[in-house]
Amino acid sequence: MTGRPHVLLSAAVSLDGHLDDTGPDRLMLSGPEDFERVDALRADSDAILVGANTLRSDDSRLLVASAERRAERVRRGLPEHPLKVTVTASGGLASHLRLWHSGGDKLVFTVDATADALRDRLGGLAEVVSTGPVIDWGALLDELGRRGVRRLMVEGGQTVHTQLVAGDLADEIQLAVAPVLVGDAAAPRFLGTAEYPGGPASRMRLLGADVVGDVVLLRLAPKDREPEDAAPEDVLRTGDAGGVPPEDAAPGGAAPGGVPSEGAAPEGSASGDAAPEDTASGDAAPDDPSPEDDAPTDGPPEGSRPR
Ligand SMILES: NC(=O)c1ccc[n+]([C@@H]2O[C@H](COP(=O)([O-])OP(=O)(O)OC[C@H]3O[C@@H](n4cnc5c(N)ncnc54)[C@H](OP(=O)(O)O)[C@@H]3O)[C@@H](O)[C@H]2O)c1
Repeated sequence: MTGRPHVLLSAAVSLDGHLDDTGPDRLMLSGPEDFERVDALRADSDAILVGANTLRSDDSRLLVASAERRAERVRRGLPEHPLKVTVTASGGLASHLRLWHSGGDKLVFTVDATADALRDRLGGLAEVVSTGPVIDWGALLDELGRRGVRRLMVEGGQTVHTQLVAGDLADEIQLAVAPVLVGDAAAPRFLGTAEYPGGPASRMRLLGADVVGDVVLLRLAPKDREPEDAAPEDVLRTGDAGGVPPEDAAPGGAAPGGVPSEGAAPEGSASGDAAPEDTASGDAAPDDPSPEDDAPTDGPPEGSRPR
């Protein structure tokens, strides 16, 4: 296996586009139904990647929480948990982070200047690989492909998501939009300032929109872009999550709702793999632990926020 993996970006955002607030505790964005969806995505992935800041701030373990899903992975000949991957240039990752001390293999991508020091600090807790003088995302994806990773799930944060989308390296985006307002420009966003492929005139293809608990899940294909000069009636192809077109944007009489996308859930329905009655934690309170924190390997963390 030498090809690059399919890269899926997964995030939960507030209605005003933020991944988090600026407070010391992680912000609750998703609900229990969406945690189940994220857990299923993790279980379907060969590797999960987060940036070093997310690791430092959230101290996530990036585990598959569901025992059933872990057992299913083992039945398929896979390790119980996906490979856990992070990226750092500073090498500032402490050895006490919970990621190192929970299930799954761990792999850190870094740069030449800090690789040796990081290897010394982490000892046998994780494998450390340098991509050269700088973080080279192409080399990182090639290396994951060489290691047999076919599906890579990227769980943030802003810096990582931004580079992957700007570099045209993301194949799919799953964005859970929560009915929450952060209202703080200093808070991290799903995507930051960058020159994105095609610029603002280019439109990604919307694969579908599902209601999952009280969040709306948008599924997008970022590489599948409409040409800049596409007629408005050609681009408003998905209506169940599409916004109202500009007043002068629908000369062909396209309805604001447009045409539902193939595979989109019926109006008001939960997504197929995250129906509330199927969830293991359907009665969880908003500040209950995240899926990873439901895993039996250790106790729930303080200040946890599901993602
Ligand atoms: N709501 C959600 O779904 C969600 C998901 C994930 C994260 N978050 C939130 O997002 C926030 C973190 O986002 P963030 O943008 O600050 O950080 P981030 O993307 O998690 O990590 C950024 C760090 O990764 C390393 N890095 C990434 N690309 C690099 C490159 N090209 N060259 C060198 N180093 C690189 C650097 O680590 P070093 O500094 O060590 O060099 C950099 O500081 C947190 O608040 C977290 O809670 C929310």
